[in-house]
Amino acid sequence: MGTFYVTTPIYYVNDVPHIGHAYTTTAADVVARFHRQLGDDVFFLTGTDEHGNKVAQAATARGVTPGQHADEMVGKFKEVARKVDATNDFFIRTTDPEHKAFVQRFVQRCHDNGDVYEGSYSGLYCPACEAYYTEDNLVNGLCPDHGIRPTFMEEKNYFFRLSAYQERLAEHYRAHPDFVRPRHRYNEALSFIEQGLDDISISRATLKWGIPVPWDESQVIYVWVDALINYLSALHYAPGEDLVARFWPATYHMMAQDILKFHGIIWPGLLLSAGFELPEHLFIHGYLKLGGEKMSKTRGNVMDPFPLIDHYGPDPFRFYCFREVNFGQDGMVGEESFRARYNSELANDLGNLLSRTVSMIGKYRDGVVPVPADRTAVDSPLAAPAERAAGIARRQLEDMDLSGALETIWDLVRRLNRYVEEQAPWKQAKAGEVDALDATLHDLAEGLRLLSVLLHPYMPGTSGRIRERLGLRADPIAYAWSEATWGRLPLGLRIQAGEPLFPRIESE
Ligand code: MSP
Repeated sequence: MGTFYVTTPIYYVNDVPHIGHAYTTTAADVVARFHRQLGDDVFFLTGTDEHGNKVAQAATARGVTPGQHADEMVGKFKEVARKVDATNDFFIRTTDPEHKAFVQRFVQRCHDNGDVYEGSYSGLYCPACEAYYTEDNLVNGLCPDHGIRPTFMEEKNYFFRLSAYQERLAEHYRAHPDFVRPRHRYNEALSFIEQGLDDISISRATLKWGIPVPWDESQVIYVWVDALINYLSALHYAPGEDLVARFWPATYHMMAQDILKFHGIIWPGLLLSAGFELPEHLFIHGYLKLGGEKMSKTRGNVMDPFPLIDHYGPDPFRFYCFREVNFGQDGMVGEESFRARYNSELANDLGNLLSRTVSMIGKYRDGVVPVPADRTAVDSPLAAPAERAAGIARRQLEDMDLSGALETIWDLVRRLNRYVEEQAPWKQAKAGEVDALDATLHDLAEGLRLLSVLLHPYMPGTSGRIRERLGLRADPIAYAWSEATWGRLPLGLRIQAGEPLFPRIESE
């Protein structure tokens, strides 16, 4: 048991949330739930990035103030977390007064340490990234992320001596080969550092929508500096006692590759300057793509998961995310493949397993889960595969292999279905093989109980419904990962009637 602090990026409120936001939040939730099952002391943070040019522009376009715009949009982002059934412990907004005050103290510290100086900045600026580019970084003269042409800008700014931290950053990377995962992202970030770091501008003179620079209120703090500091500021003012000592350094910052440089280079540079420990790991997952292109609000090619969640509940979406796309890699998503997986894996594999088990216990044993008379439960042929699956899935989840662990769990689902075919309980019943039938039905119920523990991080609602149908309690202790041990099925369980877990989607 230890502490575990996981974060998502804080999302821009310039536009409505999309599937990419739901994806990272869901991934972080899977990991947070799993660590709670291990008994870790967990803190899970998500929130919104509300300052900066992008948000100011979006507000202007709607004829409202940036503050009004942010207040209206934040609800939609909070709703994403609720819709995907995320168990975040806090939701931070960068417009929170406590965040602003902390950011000012933080940059003042960097300033007092001699890491901030005044200079003039000019360059090619992409307003969508809120970042400057050099000609070399552009693709055909366009922003590599947004495909728009950056404009030339010049202003007087405060600069942070990132260059002074180049060696310490490189050393940190070399001493912590797991600092950024997966490995190719680590290599990318380290080689960027080794190519030489320039100082970065950390304030904006022309923009009003931001946190004032504490020693020069005519400027606001660059939105990325403001945003990154959320991971620390939140720990100070999330309800309850100050959580910094308990949860800092963060265990995992999760995100896609678009913001690796900010998190892998600028954030650790700022932390070193202000005298804080660096996060333990960044985990960089892939992009969900639709029609072969990266989805982005600026491009307008966005798949909307929310109607699917409204219709089918959060679990099929959560399941689909890690089943369809190998976590850590880019992958295509779409409603067609969502429906195909739903029918073949949720309705057929898992849904049928539960409904067959429950209906046979109803039919052959009057609704009471039998206890096999002629052997201890541990002798079941399912005991070893089930415990093996629990052990492997645990290691995979600890290692952030969210798709690998789900595949391991699904192997067990398939193993249980094969067991039904092998044992053919309907034949056992017909032949009057009382003990054999008791053992089969007991094993299936026990297998499903164990699955309810393994599935909990991915499909918490489903896991609860499986337990309900089996007459099991559904509280945090019952979901502890240590319960994924064969032979813990309570005696005398009475199964409950209920609707199918996943009614098939009939083709339109
Ligand atoms: N506000 C900054 C982050 C500041 S963190 C200190 C930002 N916001 S964002 O709204 O653009 O969110 C970017 C993040 O959203 C990605 O890093 C990723 O976590 C998620 N995704 C956005 N689109 C995505 C996909 N198409 N696929 C997967 N994840 C995506 O950047």
